[in-house]
Amino acid sequence: MQKDKFDKVLSALGRPAYQAERVAIYNMDCIEAMKKLPDSLVDLTITSPPYNIGKEYEDIVDLKKYVEWCRSWIAQIHRITKSDGSFWLNVGYLKVEGKGLAVPISYLLWDKTDFFLLQEIVWNYAAGVACRTRFSPRNEKILWYVKNEGSYIFNLDEVRDPNVKYPNQKKNGKLKCNPLGKNPSDVWQIAKVTSGQNRSSKERTAHPAQFPTEMVDRVIKSGSNKGDLIVDPFMGSGSTAISAIENERFVVGFEINKQYIDIISKRIERHLMDRKMSNAQESLLLE
Ligand SMILES: C[S@@+](CC[C@H](N)C(=O)[O-])C[C@H]1O[C@@H](n2cnc3c(N)ncnc32)[C@H](O)[C@@H]1O
Repeated sequence: MQKDKFDKVLSALGRPAYQAERVAIYNMDCIEAMKKLPDSLVDLTITSPPYNIGKEYEDIVDLKKYVEWCRSWIAQIHRITKSDGSFWLNVGYLKVEGKGLAVPISYLLWDKTDFFLLQEIVWNYAAGVACRTRFSPRNEKILWYVKNEGSYIFNLDEVRDPNVKYPNQKKNGKLKCNPLGKNPSDVWQIAKVTSGQNRSSKERTAHPAQFPTEMVDRVIKSGSNKGDLIVDPFMGSGSTAISAIENERFVVGFEINKQYIDIISKRIERHLMDRKMSNAQESLLLE
């Protein structure tokens, strides 16, 4: 049943630049690609777009133009999302000339959509630039949108935090805390993907703006079910694909830059190979 949805994407868009079991990555502009997809197909979209801050993959444009562009791809995500589906938007900060040095992009985008904003999650990390004239920035946001405020997926037990201070505390003879752990709250402490000698993250690729798979894992596990279709319109280094594969979902990604497609393909191939080897080792141990 869920494979039908994946097949519909393949028949709408043709041969991907990279394909593996349950994975299709297209070297396309995401708006053009999504326009070709049918309505109400996707279970969950997670993405982090260009922030209009002059990274190597973007040219800074006028703020109005940037917001309008965001509005247009978010509208496509809304159209292709199922009625109980969700959209998770990771954004940081940008400069607004004469107005603000680090304005949260969420302030500019949060209501430029027909999605219902369910929650803003703070992603807090330890690494980053050390400032002298203001506080050192240590967070980005994840806006959790749903298509239908009365019907959406939230698998809390899949993402409970086992780090509980008093796990055996009881009230009226009953354990106070769920034995699987506590609700991880709307502040997520997850390490950034770092680079540099002796401090580079294990998952680091050559892409300059990679989000950690641990963050994507939490989104995908809580917001979708096994076999669901996940989309990332700005695939970058392929973090969403790696998490989708690990969590047994189908995944479709768009990436406009051919060089990044190479990074994604190699990263997925390596990941599939590692998975195969560790599965083989596991079955040897069981024999
Ligand atoms: C912030 S990065 C995404 C990083 C990604 N989350 C990761 O973990 O690697 C944004 C990406 O969007 C790509 N991009 C920019 N405009 C695009 C468009 N119109 N369609 C598809 N991809 C685009 C850029 O090349 C860049 O790789």
